Amino acid sequence: MWPDNKGVHINAHGGGMLSHGGVTYWFGEHKIAGEAGNVAHAGVHVYSSRNLYDWRDEGIALSVSDDPVSDIVDGCVIERPKVMYNATTRLFVMWFHLELAGKGYDAARCGVATSESPTGPYQFIGSSRLCAGIWPRNASDDDKLPGAKLARDFEGGQMSRDMTLFVDDDGSAYQLSASEDNQSLHIYRLSSDYLRPSDVYVRRLVGRYNEAPAVFKREGRYFLFSSGCTGWRPNPARIAVADSLLGEWTELGNPCIGTPEQVETTFESQSTYVLPVERKRDAFIFMADRWRPLDAIDGRYIWLPIRFVDGVPRIEWAGEWDLSVFS
Ligand code: GAL
Repeated sequence: MWPDNKGVHINAHGGGMLSHGGVTYWFGEHKIAGEAGNVAHAGVHVYSSRNLYDWRDEGIALSVSDDPVSDIVDGCVIERPKVMYNATTRLFVMWFHLELAGKGYDAARCGVATSESPTGPYQFIGSSRLCAGIWPRNASDDDKLPGAKLARDFEGGQMSRDMTLFVDDDGSAYQLSASEDNQSLHIYRLSSDYLRPSDVYVRRLVGRYNEAPAVFKREGRYFLFSSGCTGWRPNPARIAVADSLLGEWTELGNPCIGTPEQVETTFESQSTYVLPVERKRDAFIFMADRWRPLDAIDGRYIWLPIRFVDGVPRIEWAGEWDLSVFS
């Protein structure tokens, strides 16, 4: 359990972090009790911290709507929210995986919302699938044949389920998401205002069924944690590396070190984000969710320090640890 400043277990599942002005903000899915908590009844919750240990409840950053025709009506699915700051527009830009109410996971859309303040309130801009009418840069002629999943979704836009965002050192932003019925990962360069995809995207790790993507950059190389596709049940984590976000990704196996059970289940969790620790060199925290689908609000958070063994990220269980591991 991780109590906030009011003594209440933090309610920010499938979380994403934003470091801004010396403060770290933790955005995540607000869950309610029971199985009802597997769909959105409140929205995206945000917490703030200056030391990563103590978290202040900043309330609901993006609220579900009570308008029955809204894409984000109470009862929709809002998952894995992530927020970036755009220095040009001075807006905080939130992206999340959206499923329309009552439609299971068929919509496979991305939602976008903006705010002038990091903690919100965020205004919902809209939701859609991605890059309708545009082929990924690396689509082969075969991929474009009718019957291929990519071609199936060409006109209506590509599916976007489990997602994450990454802002590179030059300010360019990317969205990575499970697409083509989760069989491939699509990587989109975003427009300069971060509000939509540009027309530049690629499909990677095709046929590998990656979910739960979490990206970070170290010494000029990009690393991607992900999971397999087993719903709320944990499965073995994966780690991949690339020299550029849109480039080829090379899989490096399972990053977990531990007992067979820990390695097979990613310490009973599923990745959601990698947090680079500010003011520490070479310090990255692996963040993951221990889902509790029968009582969603009771989901737990796993944070582990990332170690590098021959340049490859590794995570090992630690029942308790603090930031001094990075000194
Ligand atoms: C997981 C996914 C979660 C959620 C869940 C629903 O695979 O990572 O974000 O979508 O499936 O079953």
